[in-house]
Amino acid sequence: MKRRTFLQQTSAAASASYLGIPLIKSQKDSYRIVLIGSGWWGMNILREAVRSGKVKLVGLCDVDQSQLKKAADEVKEWNGESPKWYTDYRQCIEDAQPEIAIVATPDHWHALPTIAAINAGAHVYVEKPISHTVLEGAAMLKAARTNERVVQVGTHRRASPHMIAGMDFLKSGKVGKVTSAKCFVNRSGNPGEPTPDSEAPAGLDWDMWVGPAPMQPFNEKIHPKGFRQFLDFANGTIGDWGIHWFDQVLWWTEEKFPTSVFSTGGRYMKQDNTDAPDTQLAAFDFEEFTCFWEHKLMAANANEQHDIGCYFYGTEGTLHLGWRDGWSFYPSKKSGQEIHMDPDVNEPDFQNIKELWADFMDSIENKKRPMCDIENGYHATNMSLLAMISMKLGRSVQWDGHQVINDSEATALLQRPYRAPWIYPS
Ligand SMILES: NC(=O)c1ccc[n+]([C@@H]2O[C@H](COP(=O)([O-])OP(=O)(O)OC[C@H]3O[C@@H](n4cnc5c(N)ncnc54)[C@H](O)[C@@H]3O)[C@@H](O)[C@H]2O)c1
Repeated sequence: MKRRTFLQQTSAAASASYLGIPLIKSQKDSYRIVLIGSGWWGMNILREAVRSGKVKLVGLCDVDQSQLKKAADEVKEWNGESPKWYTDYRQCIEDAQPEIAIVATPDHWHALPTIAAINAGAHVYVEKPISHTVLEGAAMLKAARTNERVVQVGTHRRASPHMIAGMDFLKSGKVGKVTSAKCFVNRSGNPGEPTPDSEAPAGLDWDMWVGPAPMQPFNEKIHPKGFRQFLDFANGTIGDWGIHWFDQVLWWTEEKFPTSVFSTGGRYMKQDNTDAPDTQLAAFDFEEFTCFWEHKLMAANANEQHDIGCYFYGTEGTLHLGWRDGWSFYPSKKSGQEIHMDPDVNEPDFQNIKELWADFMDSIENKKRPMCDIENGYHATNMSLLAMISMKLGRSVQWDGHQVINDSEATALLQRPYRAPWIYPS
């Protein structure tokens, strides 16, 4: 693999295509749009939304005033417009009356704002994983269908030109009969050390940030961005990264969901104050194949070519679909030819939001299901969530696509109590 070569190509292409190009001023008949959660990824999405020229920003919402200010300052630089700020998504939706809402809050805060926006008539672009517990996702799917709104999930890899080519290759049969797939994230890391709790910074409404999750002191490791490794707010690496690769597996197979899930793992190395597993394995039984998950946060795959992505193991060879390393096919026969395609991604952060946003707009305009429809996001997210349930219980969970079969303890874990006054969506 010519890793160095393609990384250089990618960043050169990215800086030419993305940076320094002025954003387009919104037009009169543009869709009214709000951003709920104006942090790192929310702003990545908003840039592409505004760049599309089809939206007018009518509200920025965040519970942290410093995040809001940063976002508003950037928006002003684009086109001189000062967006209105909100610190409560309910007020934002009521006041700004969006036709489109982007929801890029931490995972435990995806369900309620998404459902509120849909119920108010907006189409929604919601980040992955769609939910923190399974029944939140079911309620989001139901809201989307009942209100006939387009709900796009941020699994932008379905919109990546190189991933589309890799998937075409896989579906063409050139990998042969695929009997297993392995999704994985392996990274070098260290044990770390605990970060003490502290006062929430001025301007952050910590009570609102915690929202429906159990109340706890502010800790700077949680916000911003760090919530991923705290189980009250997210589901660790399998919840954060797993969904991207499970989505690739579900994109390939005609089966909608696994029928049985088993997962094991633990915290064997981490000594910081996060609580998600640093090591986890999972097995998902489908009718025609088995899908595996593996993550290790202390060791990249020193002996393997790839640290992240998914392998499809077929009778003709192995296909690797990756991130910054594009995709590669390794034939089983020694005489066979390796095939490789570089990634075709945008800056910042090697993503394909622009392409996914274009599909979102097209789906709204043509009243069709988007490529990362909420139902796809629901099934991909559920693979992570069911694995977490299995790991907690120490046994496999049988699944019919919407309900756990014959296991009341696992069924109870499909949701969790919400902290008042928040009410679990139904
Ligand atoms: N699709 C992708 O490739 C991709 C990449 C990165 C992040 N994400 C997803 O985007 C989401 C946000 O991640 P991030 O890294 O940008 O986190 P972040 O911490 O940078 O941003 C989240 C923002 O949401 C705000 N927030 C919290 N509760 C809120 C509420 N009730 N109402 C309004 N705002 C609230 C926080 O204050 C914060 O500013 C996550 O779900 C993450 O999984 C997706």
